[in-house]
Amino acid sequence: MNRIIMINGPNLNWLGKREENHYGKSSLKELEDELSEIARDQGYELLSFQTNSEGEFIDLLQKNYNQASGYIINPGAYSHTSLAIMDALLSIDKKVIEVHLSNVTAREEIRQKLLTASACDGIIIGLGKKGYKLALESIIN
Ligand code: DQA
Repeated sequence: MNRIIMINGPNLNWLGKREENHYGKSSLKELEDELSEIARDQGYELLSFQTNSEGEFIDLLQKNYNQASGYIINPGAYSHTSLAIMDALLSIDKKVIEVHLSNVTAREEIRQKLLTASACDGIIIGLGKKGYKLALESIIN
C-alpha cells in the first residue's frame, strides 16, 4: 500500500477553535477526513498524526519511515525553533512537503525563520487548507 504520512505539530489539534483569522474554520478532523478521501481516490492511504511535543514529532517521522511514500508536515511553532526536527528531516530521503496555513512571512519577525522548511523538498505557505491538498497532490505525482 502506498502510504502518505501527515504530521501536524503543536496546537493544530485546536484547528477550528484557535485564531480563526489565521487558521480558518475547519477542524483537524475535517481536514484529515477530506485529505484521506482524496488520497484514497488515488490509491494512497493517508496516516495522520498530531502531537504537541517536539520529541514525539521526531519519533513519528522516524517510526513511519519504512512505510512512508512521502510526508506532509506542519510543525507549527517548532518550524521556527527546532534544530532537532530539522536534523531529523535532513536524514529523511523521501519527499517531505511543509505546509503552513497562515502566511507566516506576513506575520511577526519571530516567525520569519523557517528552520524545518530548509530541510524539506517544498513548502506551501498561506493558502489555508488548500495548501495541504496541494502538498498531497505533489507527493502523489
Ligand atoms: C502555523 C504557523 C506557525 O507560526 C504557528 O506557530 C502555528 C501554525 C501555520 O500553519 O500557519 O502553530 O504553522
